[in-house]
Amino acid sequence: MLSKTLLSSALAALTLLPSTSVAAPLEQFSKRDLKFNYGGEKVRGVNLGGWFVLEPWITPSIFDATPENVVDEYTYCQTLGSGEAYSRLSKHWDTWISEDDLHQIAAAGMNHIRIPIGYWSIIKDDNAPYVQGAYQFLGRALDWAQGAGLKVMIDLHGAPYSQNGFDNSGQRGGVGWGQGDSISRTIAALNQLRDDMGNHPAVSTIELINEPMGSSVGIDKVRQFYMDGWGNLRDTNLVTTFHDAFAGVNAWNDWGSGMWNLMLDTHVFDGGALQQDINSHVGSACGFGNQMTQNNKWTISGEWTASGALSDCTRYLNGRGVGARYDGSYNFNGASSYYIGSCENLSSGSISGVDPTTRENTGRFIEAQLDAYEKAAGWIFWTWKTEGAPGWDMKDLLQNGVFPNPVTNRNHPGQCN
Ligand SMILES: *[C@@H]1O[C@H](CO)[C@@H](O)[C@H](O)[C@H]1NC(C)=O
Repeated sequence: MLSKTLLSSALAALTLLPSTSVAAPLEQFSKRDLKFNYGGEKVRGVNLGGWFVLEPWITPSIFDATPENVVDEYTYCQTLGSGEAYSRLSKHWDTWISEDDLHQIAAAGMNHIRIPIGYWSIIKDDNAPYVQGAYQFLGRALDWAQGAGLKVMIDLHGAPYSQNGFDNSGQRGGVGWGQGDSISRTIAALNQLRDDMGNHPAVSTIELINEPMGSSVGIDKVRQFYMDGWGNLRDTNLVTTFHDAFAGVNAWNDWGSGMWNLMLDTHVFDGGALQQDINSHVGSACGFGNQMTQNNKWTISGEWTASGALSDCTRYLNGRGVGARYDGSYNFNGASSYYIGSCENLSSGSISGVDPTTRENTGRFIEAQLDAYEKAAGWIFWTWKTEGAPGWDMKDLLQNGVFPNPVTNRNHPGQCN
């Protein structure tokens, strides 16, 4: 039904074109007003993670001030109650990222920030404990971005009942998204976001949903949701960003024909990567960059799942109370791990505190990923700031000369050649 409607609108749009351009691809018609030259200029950016959606490993102090059962934003609000949760969170929303941070991001040569937000901040959910209030701080951040000359990808990071079961969706556990009215409420949140913020000059794209677990939700359901979400954005000058739903970067070539201004976001993940030496890490990154160039859509890596880190040692990285695979302390839902190496100096603090070899390798790995993803449409690093996560904290990596500054510099040039 929907695709028929879309098709007839697309044909109606075509008839508005001068007859000489009828044969031109549809994209030519609506690309002209985009706020950023996607596919032309490289996306270079950073996520403002742990700001409007809590993540234990980014701000462990927020979680350490609560009982052990608090593992995500849902249980945080549920356990503290809305009054106390609001009082603490509003302070966090007001202070975690400052206007000066955005100027530092621009000064390092980046052109984008990606801002995760939960559905609960946009539309009220009376049946969930989440507290509202982050939305006004998102609005302030857009003005800051405009002042700093940055474009913004607003990323719906948490959807009703969780789209992936990760703590960073707001609710750790099972995947309930796709059930009941969860998809229609997600669409309602996206439409509200479009209406409230889509016209802001800094907002160049909206990501419909972060990391939906395609295998649990059902890939056809995800595809239909993406088509509906795009349909609600297609008459704007916003690019519609969609995540590959863990189906792989080349699984979307047969999808999206007749649609325009689509951008694919893939988050590089390699479960076996912890055992690799640095040359294998570099080789995998370069190989993945080549894959990203082989599909028919603008493709970015909107999160580097390993960021600059060569281990998963950061405290709470796998969840509060879960442990690390790298040192064999991982223990979650019956799964465990074996010892690869020590997490000493890697679980908190600064990249300046890790041994020189790991620091050097981290720089190599970061630059290989920059080279790889710039073969495609670009990259957005995860994440700008943490309370101490060596390899994941861009502010810290820049300050210590491990992340190239400006980001187009190379200390290890040509690794993917
Ligand atoms: C951790 O850092 C301390 C102090 O710099 C150093 O003595 C120690 O060797 C480091 N441990 C590892 C495993 O690198």
